[in-house]
Amino acid sequence: MSTCVVRRLCLAVILLAAGSPAVAQSVRYGEPWRPGYHFSPEVHWMNEPNGLIYIAGENDAPGLWHLFYQHNPIANQFGRNQSWGHATSPDLVTWTQLPDALRPEMTPGGPVNAYSGSAVFDANNSSGLGTAENPPYVIAYTGHNAITRRQDQRLAYSLDRGVTWTRFAGNPIIDLESREFRDPKITWDSFFNRWIMIVSHGGQNFLSQWASTDLINWTRLDDFFDPNSGGTGWEVADIFRLPLNGGPVRPWIIQLTPAQGSPAGGNGVLYWVGTMSEDGFVAETPAVWADFGRDFDGVYSWEEAPDGRRIWAGIMQSYGEGIPTTPWRGQVSFPRELSLVTTPQGARLRQKPVDEIESIREGLVELASPGVVTTTSDPLAPLGVAGRMLDIETTLDMGSATIAGFRVFSLPGGSAFVGYSKASNEVFVDTRGAGRSDFGPIDGMFSAPLELGTDGIVHFRILLDRSSIEVFAGTPDDPGAVTISQLVLPDPNVPDDQLGVEATALFGTASLLSFRAHQLRETWTRFPVPAGDDATIAHWSMAPPPTPIVESNPIVADRSTAVGQGGLFGEMNSLYEPSPAVDSLFYDSSRPDKRFVTSELSPPAAMFRLGFSGGAASFDAASLDGHDGALLFDPDFYGREFEFPSGFTTELFFRTDGDRSNEGLMEVLLQGDDEFRFALILNEGGPGNLRFAITDGLGRFPVVDSDNAIGGGAGNLADGRWYYVAAIYDPDDPVSPRGALRLTVLSEDMERHEVVAALPVSFPGIRPPGVDSDGRLLIGRASDVLGDDERTFIGLIDEVRISREPLPPERLLASFSEACGADLDIDGLLTPNDVLEFVSRVSASSETADLLPPQGVDTFDLLEYLRLFDEGCP
Ligand code: FRU
Repeated sequence: MSTCVVRRLCLAVILLAAGSPAVAQSVRYGEPWRPGYHFSPEVHWMNEPNGLIYIAGENDAPGLWHLFYQHNPIANQFGRNQSWGHATSPDLVTWTQLPDALRPEMTPGGPVNAYSGSAVFDANNSSGLGTAENPPYVIAYTGHNAITRRQDQRLAYSLDRGVTWTRFAGNPIIDLESREFRDPKITWDSFFNRWIMIVSHGGQNFLSQWASTDLINWTRLDDFFDPNSGGTGWEVADIFRLPLNGGPVRPWIIQLTPAQGSPAGGNGVLYWVGTMSEDGFVAETPAVWADFGRDFDGVYSWEEAPDGRRIWAGIMQSYGEGIPTTPWRGQVSFPRELSLVTTPQGARLRQKPVDEIESIREGLVELASPGVVTTTSDPLAPLGVAGRMLDIETTLDMGSATIAGFRVFSLPGGSAFVGYSKASNEVFVDTRGAGRSDFGPIDGMFSAPLELGTDGIVHFRILLDRSSIEVFAGTPDDPGAVTISQLVLPDPNVPDDQLGVEATALFGTASLLSFRAHQLRETWTRFPVPAGDDATIAHWSMAPPPTPIVESNPIVADRSTAVGQGGLFGEMNSLYEPSPAVDSLFYDSSRPDKRFVTSELSPPAAMFRLGFSGGAASFDAASLDGHDGALLFDPDFYGREFEFPSGFTTELFFRTDGDRSNEGLMEVLLQGDDEFRFALILNEGGPGNLRFAITDGLGRFPVVDSDNAIGGGAGNLADGRWYYVAAIYDPDDPVSPRGALRLTVLSEDMERHEVVAALPVSFPGIRPPGVDSDGRLLIGRASDVLGDDERTFIGLIDEVRISREPLPPERLLASFSEACGADLDIDGLLTPNDVLEFVSRVSASSETADLLPPQGVDTFDLLEYLRLFDEGCP
């Protein structure tokens, strides 16, 4: 029975291997500058929040705060695929990331993105989109046609409390045939008994106002504009009411984001306080800036918040695609509760972080008694206040000092300074030298006017997160008079407890009256991500068309992002305006000749790396329209991602239809334009040879041929067997100063070939970052882009994956472990779950039974696998 012991041991080892693959891993939500308690999308780009609404729970279930947001589901940059990302929270602090609620919609006029907008609860079912018993939640969003760039207003509704959303069949509800007409915000006007909607006319600096009784038919009211606002490029407007001084009078407020003109430079938030007339909102105050940092804009407030609360949040990220956060860009400001107060200047908004933050407070450091602050005296020093995630509340008597305040994220090399200056009567956040700043104007002195009382006391509430500072400052009577919100990217390698908080005063003596700092708990669950996943740009499994074909079910799905093409995304206008040059192949039910054709034949499972298998089908390029088809992805969809400053890996499985070695050139895959491209071509350089070629646009074409494989040629790859191929461009490959091209081939009989071509020193490298590619990606044919002769691939193609870095062998899709894979008779897939199931069955049974394959798990031979594992595989 000693073997049993060994077996048991092996099982434990397998479990380990299944649970923690030996490849390098990154940790999601643990990346540099990833906010610890602010919302940021798990992956890819976001701009402003959208459709903020609280949805009460059914029966006794807790209610949820819904946060939608502008999301590019496939890339970490603003895209032509703008969608409504979605997350919910029971407390505005802990968020659950959900699938996107609205994705771009394919219409006969072209793909329509889901731009910004709002959500309401249609409690009386005025729209008729629900029923009296189950009234609908309704989203209003802007449809942005990616081709005409026209913007119109559309609705979607949910009958299941915000879980799923259906587009209104009568969309668009308003179309002015304008390119500057976006971001509808709807709210209920209980005085006139109507819905009010405001829509931004972007570059034209006005809002149109609309009224409706059913959310579908709208009447235009007066436009709202203010030539003296100081901000231009109006976007993302919101309208709501707040009680003045907590009393019965409830003025109306409009707030919006001008793209230019804010005190900090760039965009910001302006608001007006006023009244509602029959013809719409009328301002009674001048425009007022709501925040004095660079990073608070694109703001919306939650509808339906319980207890009459009005809470808003915006996007903190004003540096476009420059900000070096990956794999996401953009974060939401910490939600702020609003109030409206009377000041000598008139009615003004006040903001404070929602009290829910208290639930994530942990350690408290508190100053026991007031202390003197000078350049050399810091009462905080003995307390050792430090950290990246802090909630600080403090009161400072300016005394004789001209400037006093707090260094935060403080290191010997630099810090951010939050303070008050009596020289200018301003609160300020000075981020100069506080962190990484080579990508945009994140470094600066951001200040907000604040008159202190005769007591000279200034009150600060400062929220720090890993990449942000939000300051709420004022006097003891009016502690949230001004806010400054600013990103800062402190050195991510410095341990948290070395980023200090210090008090200091210049040109005089100040006094620290009180100081409390709470550590804040991280609200995100970290999880490991195999490094290869972060490198994936696209992965198509070539799934068969779903039945029935519906627009939300793309035909060609990208495994890493769960989005795809064939019904939804990208520039698919060629479907509707067929161009003679481009034979794009997407499913179009109205054109039977343009179907995405799949074959049941797919690569043998043994070719795949453990833990992965291809889908049940392969893309059949041969059976299309007389060998005249390809999968085509236009540049704006995937093209911009194909800037490979640090190399790339292209992987796919293919199988020619019989022996096609004498067929002439057959392009398996091509991406690029005349400036730069790479291609995989069969029968070039000899019958059955697979050539991997790249070009730099200057006529240099380094190539690598499978025929030159080490050990004497890979032979005929156009012989009707399945092949896996990995084509890798590695500019850092040590074989030459310019790196190398590498082609790795695995046959279905598990013969493996590898060939390397050193790149010539004269080869300058491929497209530098920032140079846009306008090349298409074609899979299965390349007859149009370069004007070449038709080079249709005749056969099947599967599991195309493109990664933005040269992948090491252990991260490739295919298994290259000959000893472990070749003679292993696995006709199904061995997944970690299978192993777990096996182990649980084994441990529940007798020792003899340990040696038997588990009942019902007959798709693979576990014992054989265990034997190989004993030998050190895989
Ligand atoms: C503002 C904005 C909105 C638009 C959205 C698109 O950032 O331009 O006006 O709806 O972004 O993502």
